[in-house]
Amino acid sequence: MPLCTSTSDLTQTLAPWRKQGGKIGFVPTMGALHDGHGSLVTRALSENDCVVVSIFVNPTQFNNAADLEKYPRPFEQDLTFLNAIDPKIVVYAPEATDLYRGEVVSKSYRFGAIASEMEGRHRPGHFDGVGTVLNLLFRAVEPTNAYFGEKDFQQLQIVRKLVELENLPVNIIGCTIHRAEDGLAMSSRNRRLTPEQLAAAPFIYKTLKKAQEDFKHKSIPAIVREAEAAFAAHPILELEYFEIAGIHNLKTAYRKHPSNTYRAFLAAFAGEVRLIDNMGLN
Ligand code: PAJ
Repeated sequence: MPLCTSTSDLTQTLAPWRKQGGKIGFVPTMGALHDGHGSLVTRALSENDCVVVSIFVNPTQFNNAADLEKYPRPFEQDLTFLNAIDPKIVVYAPEATDLYRGEVVSKSYRFGAIASEMEGRHRPGHFDGVGTVLNLLFRAVEPTNAYFGEKDFQQLQIVRKLVELENLPVNIIGCTIHRAEDGLAMSSRNRRLTPEQLAAAPFIYKTLKKAQEDFKHKSIPAIVREAEAAFAAHPILELEYFEIAGIHNLKTAYRKHPSNTYRAFLAAFAGEVRLIDNMGLN
Protein backbone atom coordinates (compact mmCIF):
# COMPACT_ATOMS: atom_id res chain seq x y z
CA MET A 1 0.00 0.00 0.00
CA PRO A 2 1.46 3.45 -0.88
CA LEU A 3 2.55 5.17 2.35
CA CYS A 4 3.55 8.84 2.14
CA THR A 5 5.25 10.22 5.23
CA SER A 6 5.91 13.65 3.77
CA THR A 7 3.98 16.14 1.69
CA SER A 8 6.49 15.91 -1.18
CA ASP A 9 6.03 12.08 -1.20
CA LEU A 10 2.30 12.62 -1.49
CA THR A 11 2.62 15.12 -4.34
CA GLN A 12 4.71 12.58 -6.29
CA THR A 13 2.36 9.68 -5.56
CA LEU A 14 -0.70 11.63 -6.69
CA ALA A 15 0.92 13.19 -9.79
CA PRO A 16 -0.23 10.44 -12.22
CA TRP A 17 -3.84 10.68 -10.95
CA ARG A 18 -3.85 14.44 -11.33
CA LYS A 19 -2.40 14.16 -14.84
CA GLN A 20 -5.22 11.79 -15.83
CA GLY A 21 -7.78 14.15 -14.29
CA GLY A 22 -9.00 11.36 -11.97
CA LYS A 23 -11.25 12.09 -9.01
CA ILE A 24 -9.38 12.10 -5.72
CA GLY A 25 -11.36 11.19 -2.61
CA PHE A 26 -9.99 12.16 0.79
CA VAL A 27 -10.74 10.86 4.30
CA PRO A 28 -8.88 12.82 6.99
CA THR A 29 -8.43 10.91 10.27
CA MET A 30 -6.39 10.89 13.43
CA GLY A 31 -5.87 7.12 13.18
CA ALA A 32 -6.89 4.43 15.69
CA LEU A 33 -9.13 3.38 12.85
CA HIS A 34 -12.42 1.55 13.32
CA ASP A 35 -15.42 0.63 11.20
CA GLY A 36 -16.77 4.20 11.45
CA HIS A 37 -13.69 5.41 9.56
CA GLY A 38 -14.02 2.29 7.38
CA SER A 39 -17.52 3.35 6.28
CA LEU A 40 -16.16 6.73 5.09
CA VAL A 41 -13.29 5.04 3.24
CA THR A 42 -15.62 2.55 1.53
CA ARG A 43 -17.89 5.36 0.38
CA ALA A 44 -14.88 7.35 -0.89
CA LEU A 45 -13.64 4.29 -2.84
CA SER A 46 -17.02 3.91 -4.53
CA GLU A 47 -17.12 7.56 -5.68
CA ASN A 48 -13.50 8.33 -6.70
CA ASP A 49 -10.63 7.00 -8.81
CA CYS A 50 -8.06 7.28 -6.04
CA VAL A 51 -8.52 7.56 -2.26
CA VAL A 52 -6.19 9.22 0.22
CA VAL A 53 -6.56 8.55 3.96
CA SER A 54 -4.55 10.83 6.22
CA ILE A 55 -3.46 9.67 9.66
CA PHE A 56 -2.34 12.62 11.71
CA VAL A 57 -3.00 13.29 15.40
CA ASN A 58 -3.33 17.05 15.17
CA PRO A 59 -1.82 18.72 18.27
CA THR A 60 -3.50 22.11 17.72
CA GLN A 61 -7.05 20.79 18.11
CA PHE A 62 -6.48 19.33 21.59
CA ASN A 63 -7.29 21.77 24.36
CA ASN A 64 -6.17 19.22 26.95
CA ALA A 65 -2.53 18.03 26.97
CA ALA A 66 -3.38 14.72 28.69
CA ASP A 67 -6.01 13.93 26.03
CA LEU A 68 -3.42 14.53 23.28
CA GLU A 69 -0.84 12.38 25.03
CA LYS A 70 -3.30 9.53 25.64
CA TYR A 71 -4.78 9.59 22.15
CA PRO A 72 -4.25 6.03 20.79
CA ARG A 73 -1.71 5.68 17.97
CA PRO A 74 -1.76 2.05 16.73
CA PHE A 75 -0.13 2.96 13.41
CA GLU A 76 0.77 -0.55 12.19
CA GLN A 77 -2.75 -1.82 12.97
CA ASP A 78 -4.17 1.13 11.03
CA LEU A 79 -2.12 0.22 7.96
CA THR A 80 -3.33 -3.40 8.19
CA PHE A 81 -6.92 -2.17 8.57
CA LEU A 82 -6.71 0.00 5.42
CA ASN A 83 -4.81 -2.60 3.44
CA ALA A 84 -7.62 -5.09 4.12
CA ILE A 85 -10.17 -2.60 2.72
CA ASP A 86 -8.14 -1.88 -0.43
CA PRO A 87 -4.36 -2.04 -0.92
CA LYS A 88 -4.57 0.83 -3.44
CA ILE A 89 -5.52 3.35 -0.72
CA VAL A 90 -2.85 6.05 -0.42
CA VAL A 91 -1.94 6.62 3.24
CA TYR A 92 -0.66 10.07 4.09
CA ALA A 93 0.97 10.29 7.53
CA PRO A 94 3.05 13.48 7.68
CA GLU A 95 5.18 14.82 10.55
CA ALA A 96 3.70 17.88 12.28
CA THR A 97 6.52 20.23 11.23
CA ASP A 98 6.28 19.07 7.60
CA LEU A 99 2.50 19.56 7.38
CA TYR A 100 2.57 22.88 9.28
CA ARG A 101 5.73 24.00 7.46
CA GLY A 102 7.34 25.13 10.74
CA GLU A 103 5.61 26.28 13.87
CA VAL A 104 2.72 24.05 14.92
CA VAL A 105 0.12 26.71 15.78
CA SER A 106 -3.50 27.44 14.91
CA LYS A 107 -4.82 30.16 12.67
CA SER A 108 -7.78 32.16 14.01
CA TYR A 109 -10.91 31.61 11.96
CA ARG A 110 -14.13 33.61 11.78
CA PHE A 111 -16.44 30.64 11.71
CA GLY A 112 -19.18 32.71 13.31
CA ALA A 113 -21.74 31.53 15.84
CA ILE A 114 -21.54 27.81 14.94
CA ALA A 115 -18.04 27.68 16.47
CA SER A 116 -19.11 29.00 19.85
CA GLU A 117 -21.87 26.45 20.51
CA MET A 118 -21.46 23.03 22.19
CA GLU A 119 -18.00 21.64 21.35
CA GLY A 120 -16.75 25.18 20.74
CA ARG A 121 -17.94 26.27 24.17
CA HIS A 122 -16.48 23.26 25.98
CA ARG A 123 -13.24 22.96 24.00
CA PRO A 124 -11.85 26.49 23.47
CA GLY A 125 -9.60 26.72 20.40
CA HIS A 126 -10.63 23.25 19.17
CA PHE A 127 -12.25 24.36 15.92
CA ASP A 128 -9.43 26.76 15.04
CA GLY A 129 -7.12 23.73 15.32
CA VAL A 130 -9.43 21.59 13.18
CA GLY A 131 -9.77 24.37 10.59
CA THR A 132 -6.02 24.98 10.48
CA VAL A 133 -5.07 21.34 9.95
CA LEU A 134 -7.81 20.70 7.38
CA ASN A 135 -6.81 23.77 5.40
CA LEU A 136 -3.24 22.41 5.27
CA LEU A 137 -4.39 18.86 4.46
CA PHE A 138 -6.76 20.07 1.70
CA ARG A 139 -3.94 22.08 0.13
CA ALA A 140 -1.62 19.06 0.25
CA VAL A 141 -4.12 16.50 -1.09
CA GLU A 142 -6.21 18.77 -3.38
CA PRO A 143 -9.13 16.33 -3.26
CA THR A 144 -12.21 16.38 -5.46
CA ASN A 145 -14.37 15.03 -2.62
CA ALA A 146 -13.70 14.90 1.13
CA TYR A 147 -15.66 12.69 3.55
CA PHE A 148 -16.66 13.55 7.12
CA GLY A 149 -18.81 11.73 9.66
CA GLU A 150 -21.99 13.13 11.17
CA LYS A 151 -20.59 11.65 14.38
CA ASP A 152 -18.85 15.03 14.65
CA PHE A 153 -21.79 16.97 13.27
CA GLN A 154 -20.59 20.37 14.42
CA GLN A 155 -17.17 19.68 12.90
CA LEU A 156 -18.89 18.83 9.60
CA GLN A 157 -20.63 22.24 9.61
CA ILE A 158 -17.32 23.93 10.51
CA VAL A 159 -15.62 22.19 7.57
CA ARG A 160 -18.30 23.48 5.19
CA LYS A 161 -17.67 26.98 6.52
CA LEU A 162 -13.88 26.54 6.24
CA VAL A 163 -14.18 25.59 2.58
CA GLU A 164 -16.24 28.74 1.98
CA LEU A 165 -13.82 31.00 3.91
CA GLU A 166 -10.68 29.56 2.27
CA ASN A 167 -12.35 29.24 -1.14
CA LEU A 168 -11.27 25.62 -1.51
CA PRO A 169 -12.42 23.67 -4.59
CA VAL A 170 -13.58 20.53 -2.75
CA ASN A 171 -16.99 18.89 -2.23
CA ILE A 172 -17.68 18.13 1.41
CA ILE A 173 -19.67 14.93 1.89
CA GLY A 174 -21.36 14.14 5.21
CA CYS A 175 -21.70 10.45 6.12
CA THR A 176 -24.07 8.81 8.62
CA ILE A 177 -22.92 7.66 12.06
CA HIS A 178 -21.65 4.10 12.21
CA ARG A 179 -22.70 2.34 15.43
CA ALA A 180 -21.91 -0.90 17.21
CA GLU A 181 -24.79 -3.36 17.57
CA ASP A 182 -25.60 -1.99 21.03
CA GLY A 183 -25.91 1.52 19.54
CA LEU A 184 -22.61 2.93 20.78
CA ALA A 185 -21.18 5.27 18.14
CA MET A 186 -17.79 3.94 17.06
CA SER A 187 -14.95 6.16 18.22
CA SER A 188 -11.19 5.90 18.61
CA ARG A 189 -11.71 6.90 22.23
CA ASN A 190 -13.80 3.75 22.90
CA ARG A 191 -10.48 1.88 23.06
CA ARG A 192 -9.69 3.69 26.28
CA LEU A 193 -12.88 2.52 28.05
CA THR A 194 -12.74 -0.18 30.73
CA PRO A 195 -15.07 -3.16 30.16
CA GLU A 196 -17.47 -1.66 32.71
CA GLN A 197 -17.49 1.75 30.97
CA LEU A 198 -17.88 0.09 27.58
CA ALA A 199 -20.94 -1.77 28.86
CA ALA A 200 -22.37 1.50 30.24
CA ALA A 201 -21.68 3.68 27.17
CA PRO A 202 -24.70 2.56 25.03
CA PHE A 203 -26.79 4.53 27.56
CA ILE A 204 -25.78 7.55 25.46
CA TYR A 205 -27.49 6.06 22.40
CA LYS A 206 -30.54 5.02 24.44
CA THR A 207 -30.93 8.57 25.75
CA LEU A 208 -30.73 9.99 22.23
CA LYS A 209 -33.24 7.42 20.94
CA LYS A 210 -35.64 8.35 23.73
CA ALA A 211 -35.24 12.04 22.87
CA GLN A 212 -35.99 11.20 19.23
CA GLU A 213 -39.16 9.36 20.23
CA ASP A 214 -40.23 12.06 22.75
CA PHE A 215 -39.62 14.82 20.20
CA LYS A 216 -42.91 13.83 18.54
CA HIS A 217 -44.99 14.90 21.53
CA LYS A 218 -42.89 16.59 24.25
CA SER A 219 -41.47 20.10 24.46
CA ILE A 220 -37.73 20.68 24.02
CA PRO A 221 -37.16 21.82 27.67
CA ALA A 222 -38.98 18.68 28.95
CA ILE A 223 -36.81 16.40 26.79
CA VAL A 224 -33.62 18.14 27.93
CA ARG A 225 -34.68 18.00 31.60
CA GLU A 226 -35.41 14.27 31.36
CA ALA A 227 -32.10 13.51 29.67
CA GLU A 228 -30.22 15.51 32.30
CA ALA A 229 -32.08 13.72 35.10
CA ALA A 230 -31.37 10.30 33.56
CA PHE A 231 -27.63 11.09 33.44
CA ALA A 232 -27.66 12.53 36.96
CA ALA A 233 -28.86 9.13 38.19
CA HIS A 234 -26.31 7.19 36.15
CA PRO A 235 -23.52 5.62 38.21
CA ILE A 236 -20.79 5.67 35.52
CA LEU A 237 -21.44 8.37 32.94
CA GLU A 238 -21.20 12.05 33.73
CA LEU A 239 -23.04 14.41 31.39
CA GLU A 240 -21.23 17.51 30.16
CA TYR A 241 -24.07 18.82 28.00
CA PHE A 242 -27.27 17.67 26.36
CA GLU A 243 -28.70 20.11 23.83
CA ILE A 244 -31.23 20.25 21.06
CA ALA A 245 -30.28 22.55 18.22
CA GLY A 246 -31.24 23.44 14.66
CA ILE A 247 -28.89 21.75 12.20
CA HIS A 248 -27.84 24.94 10.40
CA ASN A 249 -27.06 27.48 13.10
CA LEU A 250 -26.50 24.88 15.89
CA LYS A 251 -27.95 27.35 18.38
CA THR A 252 -29.64 25.85 21.44
CA ALA A 253 -33.33 25.52 20.62
CA TYR A 254 -36.07 26.04 23.20
CA ARG A 255 -39.08 25.79 20.94
CA LYS A 256 -39.90 23.74 17.85
CA HIS A 257 -40.49 25.55 14.60
CA PRO A 258 -42.26 23.33 12.05
CA SER A 259 -39.94 24.33 9.19
CA ASN A 260 -36.72 23.66 11.10
CA THR A 261 -34.68 20.43 11.37
CA TYR A 262 -33.32 19.52 14.79
CA ARG A 263 -30.71 17.23 16.28
CA ALA A 264 -29.91 16.29 19.86
CA PHE A 265 -26.24 16.57 20.82
CA LEU A 266 -24.45 15.36 23.91
CA ALA A 267 -21.04 14.99 25.50
CA ALA A 268 -20.45 12.75 28.50
CA PHE A 269 -17.47 11.49 30.43
CA ALA A 270 -16.82 7.85 31.29
CA GLY A 271 -14.01 8.38 33.77
CA GLU A 272 -11.46 10.52 31.89
CA VAL A 273 -12.76 9.57 28.45
CA ARG A 274 -14.96 12.13 26.77
CA LEU A 275 -17.58 10.72 24.40
CA ILE A 276 -19.80 12.66 22.00
CA ASP A 277 -22.82 11.62 19.99
CA ASN A 278 -25.86 13.15 18.26
CA MET A 279 -29.04 12.14 16.48
CA GLY A 280 -31.56 13.65 14.09
CA LEU A 281 -34.94 14.30 15.74
CA ASN A 282 -37.28 15.14 12.84
P1 PAJ B 1 -11.23 11.31 13.73
O1 PAJ B 1 -11.84 11.42 15.07
O2 PAJ B 1 -10.19 10.27 13.50
O3 PAJ B 1 -12.39 11.11 12.70
C1 PAJ B 1 -12.12 11.08 11.32
C2 PAJ B 1 -13.45 11.10 10.60
O4 PAJ B 1 -14.18 9.92 10.89
C3 PAJ B 1 -14.33 12.29 11.02
O5 PAJ B 1 -14.97 12.84 9.87
C4 PAJ B 1 -15.34 11.63 11.94
O6 PAJ B 1 -16.59 12.31 12.02
C5 PAJ B 1 -15.49 10.28 11.27
N1 PAJ B 1 -16.02 9.28 12.22
C6 PAJ B 1 -15.53 8.95 13.44
N2 PAJ B 1 -16.33 8.04 14.03
C7 PAJ B 1 -17.35 7.80 13.17
C8 PAJ B 1 -18.52 6.96 13.21
N3 PAJ B 1 -18.80 6.19 14.26
N4 PAJ B 1 -19.35 6.98 12.15
C9 PAJ B 1 -19.09 7.78 11.06
N5 PAJ B 1 -18.01 8.59 10.98
C10 PAJ B 1 -17.15 8.60 12.01
O7 PAJ B 1 -12.40 14.02 13.29
C11 PAJ B 1 -11.19 13.91 13.29
O8 PAJ B 1 -10.54 12.72 13.34
C12 PAJ B 1 -10.28 15.13 13.21
O9 PAJ B 1 -10.90 16.21 13.83
C13 PAJ B 1 -9.86 15.50 11.76
C14 PAJ B 1 -11.09 15.85 10.90
C15 PAJ B 1 -9.08 14.35 11.10
C16 PAJ B 1 -8.94 16.74 11.80
O10 PAJ B 1 -7.81 16.51 12.55
